[in-house]
Amino acid sequence: MDINGVIYSFPPKTAALKVEEKVELRHTIIRLLKARNAVIIAHYYTDPEIQALAETTGGCVADSLEMARFGNQHHATTLIVAGVRFMGETAKILSPEKVVLMPTLKAECSLDLGCSPEAFSAFCDDHPDRTVVVYANTSAAVKARADWVVTSSIAVELIDYLDSLGEKIIWAPDRHLGRYVQKQTGADMQCWQSACIVHDEFKTQALLRMKRVYPDAAVLVHPESPQAIVDLATAVGSTSQLICAAQTLPHQQIIVATDHGIFYKMQQACPKKSLLKAPTAGAGAACRSCAHCPWMAMNNLKIIAEGLEHGGAQHEVRIEESVRQRALIPLNRMLSFAAALPRR
Ligand code: 13P
Ligand code: SF4
Repeated sequence: MDINGVIYSFPPKTAALKVEEKVELRHTIIRLLKARNAVIIAHYYTDPEIQALAETTGGCVADSLEMARFGNQHHATTLIVAGVRFMGETAKILSPEKVVLMPTLKAECSLDLGCSPEAFSAFCDDHPDRTVVVYANTSAAVKARADWVVTSSIAVELIDYLDSLGEKIIWAPDRHLGRYVQKQTGADMQCWQSACIVHDEFKTQALLRMKRVYPDAAVLVHPESPQAIVDLATAVGSTSQLICAAQTLPHQQIIVATDHGIFYKMQQACPKKSLLKAPTAGAGAACRSCAHCPWMAMNNLKIIAEGLEHGGAQHEVRIEESVRQRALIPLNRMLSFAAALPRR
């Protein structure tokens, strides 16, 4: 798959675990969490069994902003971050004294892959008068070049604030989120042109047809989706904001345009509502088009247990100290800004 000249190859699908294996692995993980004083921090897009284990062992299941906050504030000395690499890196930048493990360090993100530190640095050099705002879905090195880090849950508020100060902005890497924020705020933004390979795949004509079949359904859309999909939304927001919208909107049927891993927590939040997947090209696509992030799907109970048992280079997030210190500045700015906002 190719976005803005970057070709993405997807990881192979991992084999499903047997039920008995899962039971055994859950016991092993619970034992190792205690032994290591560790806690699981899982993203909403990971498999339901990982989310359930995080919940029942005192960890968290959250959006990328809350994952960062939780890891930073929790007393555990080891964090096991089930998600994609930038989430583990964010945890390590904020908590260098903690051991940060990931089920696999190979879990990437197309936005991170589509924004190399070298090319991004040159882009910033071309616009020296602009404030540099990067999405959390970036490498530590790209964050180190930024003035601010932001997640989708507070992007509109942050850009609105910077715009009110008269600042012109560089935005990277997600073009769809950048355009959405630009439309909401009217800010002067130069946008990097990457995209999320999952959200980029939602199909407008098919969604219009689906809306005709379910005329009373609400449409919830993550702002990493293309403009034509956002235009059909009843509510647009980060993963946690979409869960909140599913709960508070009066609609009984909800079409969801984001990774379907979110259905686990969304269905818990509104057990009586019908949740429907927004259409992608599915099996007919040349790439893998299924509203499930192939890198999030790499996380499973087996490699969580392996990470906790063995740690080491396959699992432990390490960041060069000078990069970490520079990346910490815009990340701390984000956390302070988020803390000053009314909690939603
Ligand atoms: P959230 O910050 O909304 O959890 O999004 C992270 C992400 O990777 C969405 O694709
Ligand atoms: Fe990145 Fe998209 Fe996967 Fe989120 S869903 S981690 S933005 S590739």
